[in-house]
Amino acid sequence: VDDQKLQSLRDLINEELLAVYTTGPESLTRPIYYVLSGSGKRLRPILTLITAKTCGCSTVDSLPAALAVEVLHNFTLVHDDIMDDDHTRHGQLTVHEKWDVGTAILTGDAMLSLAMILLLHKDGYPPALMPVFTEGLLKVCEGQALDKEFENRNDVTIDEYVEMIDLKTGHLLGLSAEMGAIVAGVSTDVRQALRDYARLIGRAFQVQDDLLEIYSDSSKMGKSLHSDIILGKKTYLMIQALTEIPERITAALHTAEKDIATGLQLIRQSLDEQGIHEQALEYVESTIQHANDILAAVDVPSSDLMYFSNLITKRRN
Ligand code: IPE
Ligand code: IPE
Ligand code: MG
Ligand code: MG
Repeated sequence: VDDQKLQSLRDLINEELLAVYTTGPESLTRPIYYVLSGSGKRLRPILTLITAKTCGCSTVDSLPAALAVEVLHNFTLVHDDIMDDDHTRHGQLTVHEKWDVGTAILTGDAMLSLAMILLLHKDGYPPALMPVFTEGLLKVCEGQALDKEFENRNDVTIDEYVEMIDLKTGHLLGLSAEMGAIVAGVSTDVRQALRDYARLIGRAFQVQDDLLEIYSDSSKMGKSLHSDIILGKKTYLMIQALTEIPERITAALHTAEKDIATGLQLIRQSLDEQGIHEQALEYVESTIQHANDILAAVDVPSSDLMYFSNLITKRRN
């Protein structure tokens, strides 16, 4: 895989996503088309395709599984945006803002069904696929539940946080890789190692997302930021700050409630001066290293997946 090959995989995924759901009531086809034509990075289906290829399975055969993963992911985003009260995603209005909450709930539900249909209707897919998919889906729900519970707590530990992000984000990357391995028909050992690699990549990815939420801007990210701050989300950075500099960060968060620009500046300054920004960057780096160590120990050619790890390290949006 190189950058050009990556783009051609992304183009293929984008094209196929538009064909996933074309007939049905307009109040469903329109928002689903709207979501699936959005400018997502398509990292999860790319991970499925690369993992399958690494294990000796063709792109044609792994494509339905890859599409299922991306439709599932986008379903979680539609509902997540309701839960986080976010107004922008992929540089456009979120579904519940463009239409209404009812439409967004139903759009999500239908997308989940479509993801399952993609898996059920592909001839020759091993029966092991569906349990991995549905169990992963439940993990995402559990992670989202903890994410919401933590909003109302100020004593969340880093261990609890890691458990939460492994559920809400890690398991989805894990299942993306695992499904690629399953369609390729590799041994359980290889399949589990590739899943564990991807879960760690997901962990690093989420901490990086927490960082970008504070240090990037909405135009670059294409999504509304600062809902983490407003909702009191327990991110890697916030947990460290609440432990090390509770008064200072609480004051900065209070300022942010009234004046987001000034508050954000105070938050960044506090995190920088306390070394928490640097610490989070190092955590991302070491987690990716840990993932790569697992990958290196698996008996498959690892260069394409190493390339994928590198994409995560370089991510800026
Ligand atoms: C967003 O995921 C949700 C998180 C786990 C942080 P992505 O950043 O991969 O979103 P898209 O698919 O590119 O929109
Ligand atoms: C990511 O949620 C995980 C899921 C959607 C399941 P976040 O709320 O952290 O991600 P963004 O910032 O909205 O993309
Ligand atoms: Mg969320
Ligand atoms: Mg969100």
